[in-house]
Amino acid sequence: MQSRSVFITTPIYYVNAKPHIGHAYTTIACDIFSRFRRMLFHDVKFTTGTDEHGKKIEQSAQNAGIITQLFVDQHSQLFRDLLPFLNIKIDDFIRTTEARHKKAVEFFWAEIKRNEYLYLGEYSGWYDIRNEAYFSEDELIDGKSPLGGDVQYMTEPCYFFRLSAFYDQLMNFYENNPDFIMPLHRRNEVISFVQQGLKDLAVTRTTFKWGIKVPKDPKHVVYVWLDALVNYLTLNGYPENADQNRDVFWQNSVHFVGKEIIKFHAVYWPAFLMAAGIRPPKQIVVHGWWMSEGEKMSKSIGNVQDPIKYCKLFGSDSLRYYLMREVPFGDDGNFSLENFIGRHNSFLVNSFGNLCYRLLSFIKNHADGVVTKHNTFTEDDPVFDDGVNRALAAAMKEMHQYAFSKCLERLEDAIAFANQYIDKQKPWALKKEGNINRMNTVLSLLLEKTYIITKFLMPFIPIAAEKILRQMNIPYEPIILLKERIPERINIGEPEIVFTKIDPANLTAFDVFAVDDD
Ligand code: MSP
Repeated sequence: MQSRSVFITTPIYYVNAKPHIGHAYTTIACDIFSRFRRMLFHDVKFTTGTDEHGKKIEQSAQNAGIITQLFVDQHSQLFRDLLPFLNIKIDDFIRTTEARHKKAVEFFWAEIKRNEYLYLGEYSGWYDIRNEAYFSEDELIDGKSPLGGDVQYMTEPCYFFRLSAFYDQLMNFYENNPDFIMPLHRRNEVISFVQQGLKDLAVTRTTFKWGIKVPKDPKHVVYVWLDALVNYLTLNGYPENADQNRDVFWQNSVHFVGKEIIKFHAVYWPAFLMAAGIRPPKQIVVHGWWMSEGEKMSKSIGNVQDPIKYCKLFGSDSLRYYLMREVPFGDDGNFSLENFIGRHNSFLVNSFGNLCYRLLSFIKNHADGVVTKHNTFTEDDPVFDDGVNRALAAAMKEMHQYAFSKCLERLEDAIAFANQYIDKQKPWALKKEGNINRMNTVLSLLLEKTYIITKFLMPFIPIAAEKILRQMNIPYEPIILLKERIPERINIGEPEIVFTKIDPANLTAFDVFAVDDD
């Protein structure tokens, strides 16, 4: 059975660049899932934050000619400032430069040291500064790291983590927790990575200073990934809340991540936690990349799109809907303004927006704004009722699997049923014929279904859904109940158009790329 509590996290974002659509994507997905679980009356903790240590950040600050602390303060603020634009509601925002996090990392370090999973040695290899990772000679591709960064050969004394000791434990864990990695095909990637063998991992650096110092050996700085991963524990009250194994949020922790950081979350992180005697998180939910001009959207490639611009131009609801609907969660997708406009116009305006406005304005203009239930049923009614119920139940199932686009497809089915039903029942003709009882039966059934669909859409498009629910004027609880019944008599509010069509002709000045990057 599903727990009623859930702890949802985004990765913490590097502060060496402005946030772009890729970052917004993960945060939006987490926000939608959080809102969805809240609408099931679950107890949700949803967090995000910034990853501020490491050589890469230190260098970016130097390049910008700003002292590192100021640089990270400014850039972290950009990620925080993005949240209201996207209409994201978080419970906590973490920065790895905060005192509470330093304390957690130091405590965590001491725990795995005490359990004898750390030892001092020497490390040599090709170091990719941009990605903060070492590679061996045979892993390099055309003189660059497999992640595409420039490398330099380095030797340094460092602490190693006994990752090799965790082979069996990790394999058992994956076997006993088949849902640990979502979607399922990602699980196979992780298992075959581990099957290739696990080498001990260098978990400190001496080549720079911008990080958390190793307790009792301060010339070593804790590896930025170990530091960063502990953020999830810091956010859960560690180390004061020492018994994470009994903590209901930890037991139900879900980390959303992009596919490039799966190894860190699904291999290293569980091993670090096991070394500290803490059970791994419940789930790692992996999504694909937004591409632009055929490549992963990223600051270093320079093909980023600015989410704030989209929110200002079209509203956060449209961006949230487009990102969730365009690409199955887990796959890569191409970000395109043309498709954005297409989806906005066809679903938000023509399909959903039109259903709501058409229904509510008919009630207002032809039924004095009042819908009264009546039992003048025909055989079409249970067919419609069942069709919508089935679509909603399927949407619910998809949502629990983090299949956001499929969930939206099922909701679109439900809306299509409603639009077909209204076309077939022709309430305007019923009115003309004076068949008022049948008209009321049709309108109340339509209103009831549209109301439930709108509530289900709330996590995706909260601003518009809220407006429409207000227009319906049905006293509602923010809870998704698939077979909810509305009251016998509804006196609706003032119908208004919520989504307007985007005309590409008016967007000639639209600057597709964010060229004003710092
Ligand atoms: N700081 C690490 C994560 C540490 S978590 C303990 C990091 N940061 S990052 O700034 O590079 O952000 C990575 C995350 O941003 C990805 O995992 C993904 O969630 C999101 N995205 C960044 N670019 C993206 C795309 N082009 N497409 C989709 N999401 C992407 O890695």
